[in-house]
Amino acid sequence: MLQRNDFPEDFVFGVSTAAYQIEGQAFGGSGRTHWDDFAETPGNVVRAENGSIACDHYNRWAEDLDLIRDGGYGAYRFSASWARVLPEGRGTLNPEGLDFYDRLVDGMLERGIKPMLTLYHWELPSPLADLGGWRNRDVASWFADYSVLLMDRLGDRIWKTATINELWCVSFLSHFFGEHAPGLRDIRATARSVHHVLLAHGMATEALRAAGHGDIGAVCNFSYAEPADDSPEAAEAAATFDAHYNQLFLSAFFRKKYPDRILSALERHLPDRWQDDFDVIGTPVDWLGVNYYTREILAPAPGPWPANKSVPGPLPKTQMGWEIYPEGLHHFLHLANDYAGGLPLYVTENGMANDDTVVNGAVDDSARIDYLAAHFAAAKRAMDEGVPLEGYFVWSLMDNFEWALGYEKRFGLVHVDFDTLVRTPKASYHALKTALSR
Ligand code: FCB
Repeated sequence: MLQRNDFPEDFVFGVSTAAYQIEGQAFGGSGRTHWDDFAETPGNVVRAENGSIACDHYNRWAEDLDLIRDGGYGAYRFSASWARVLPEGRGTLNPEGLDFYDRLVDGMLERGIKPMLTLYHWELPSPLADLGGWRNRDVASWFADYSVLLMDRLGDRIWKTATINELWCVSFLSHFFGEHAPGLRDIRATARSVHHVLLAHGMATEALRAAGHGDIGAVCNFSYAEPADDSPEAAEAAATFDAHYNQLFLSAFFRKKYPDRILSALERHLPDRWQDDFDVIGTPVDWLGVNYYTREILAPAPGPWPANKSVPGPLPKTQMGWEIYPEGLHHFLHLANDYAGGLPLYVTENGMANDDTVVNGAVDDSARIDYLAAHFAAAKRAMDEGVPLEGYFVWSLMDNFEWALGYEKRFGLVHVDFDTLVRTPKASYHALKTALSR
């Protein structure tokens, strides 16, 4: 495993989490979210689990911040829940919610941890979902208003702010593939959610700047598109995947246009005058976050666009069934740099799920140590080739609510027993502490 000294002096290592996955939505006067609704609907989430208790981070946050400090991390990427701040999504504030984030940020600073805030990591307030959620253009101004309200309270202490986590997941995964809330499988809803989530990012960025807040970034997820074989059909299947998953959002942010492959499939479903929004969508950001886990093997499939399907690959897999492919991280750091043209980059998420168990008070997750070592090396290789990577955040601090897969998939450096909520640092936590300490 590479050591702290292999990276530049000011390179930042951190850990990532998200509000709904750890806090406990039931606590502190939070409003209902579309994830609560999705989880309550049979068949959507493993064992119909939800985030109402999660890791009880709402009450145990001080212990969790101690784990981050003691692990030797310089930064913490966390998210705020929109519905905790504004239970209806707009209008009446929940002062308890704002106070919670205030304490949390102060707690980071007291421990020497830089706060990196994500404004939206997927828990749309249900009353806004009732109005069409990401299909409704107004969501962009609702999101901008919430963003300014939250940052007017926290912004004086926030290190960096990300607008929306993984726009592909907010749009495609949730409106086309139906795997995340609101669970739609509808191409028109997909096109509209793509456009509105981009517009929300741009409007919030502009509104935050107008309110005096800076250091704002976008965070995208990437998955390497590998054709299943040498045929032109498989190449086309992979190119289609690459267009919607990896290129669409970078193209919108940095080239102010949709890729041709996207327009030929989605243009007739986009809202009227969509072209007029690109100056807002492409408003400059200060940094770009790269979330990376795996690759997909793509084969052609009968039927309408995207006319492809993922097939199993030959490489070793994580508990998610995801292939371990560190070269993909190297590839996407270069791609991100090509689009972002020299802006600072961060790996904002990378890590693996493993079927971890506590045995005699310890968790042997050597597979995770190997996974992270290989991905650190891939990132370092890109840096040595000139990619301006400035930090690396491991997903995740602790085991948590892994969305549609419930509590079964364990991504943490720290094990959580979901009956007792006891935290047990895993071998990977200790190994990274040794490698990354100054
Ligand atoms: C990412 C999400 C994060 C977590 C990891 C495993 O797509 O941003 O919340 O679920 O995957």
